[in-house]
Amino acid sequence: MMQKIKILKLSPENTELLQACAELDKICLASEAWSFESFRSEAEKNSGIVLAAVSPEAELLGFLTASCILDTADLTNIAVSPAYRRNGIAGMLLETLFSLTGEACIFLEVRESNQNAIALYQKYQFRPVGVRKNFYQNPIENAILMQYGGN
Ligand SMILES: CC(C)(COP(=O)(O)OP(=O)(O)OC[C@H]1O[C@@H](n2cnc3c(N)ncnc32)[C@H](O)[C@@H]1OP(=O)(O)O)[C@@H](O)C(=O)NCCC(=O)NCCS
Repeated sequence: MMQKIKILKLSPENTELLQACAELDKICLASEAWSFESFRSEAEKNSGIVLAAVSPEAELLGFLTASCILDTADLTNIAVSPAYRRNGIAGMLLETLFSLTGEACIFLEVRESNQNAIALYQKYQFRPVGVRKNFYQNPIENAILMQYGGN
């Protein structure tokens, strides 16, 4: 199964997969979910990266969004369909991002309570570099700022 999963960089014309990203986002990150239009416009930007993990049957299993300007990238979101978690899909998405951003330093914010995501990022060499107090709403929570690469 895992060998057959493909990671695709979506273009704005990949309407069905972008729509599926918005639907998966609603399931995974309810209060902060992006709309289809947000995914589409990210895929359209020169700086935008929307990666989709797709099964051989063309089903969306996970996605990652990021934006990269010069030598700095922001990982804005990553999610994997609940039924497919713990199979290395988020890892595949991150490895693909690293290959696209090269030497760029990558930043992200994560909810302090999101231990699964923090464990994922640490496995892939992100390190905590700061806290943004009350960064999130619904519920209000601090963000841990993490960095990959750079000094
Ligand atoms: C976080 C998330 C993207 C991980 O996706 P995934 O495909 O299951 O992750 P992987 O299988 O690639 O896991 C890689 C590593 O992450 C860590 N990890 C992932 N899920 C974990 C869990 N439930 N418990 C502990 N560690 C976990 C482990 O170190 C794991 O490596 P291992 O399996 O060799 O131990 C997924 O749980 C998810 O979609 N969560 C909801 C959305 C979310 O919170 N996104 C982050 C927003 S900042």
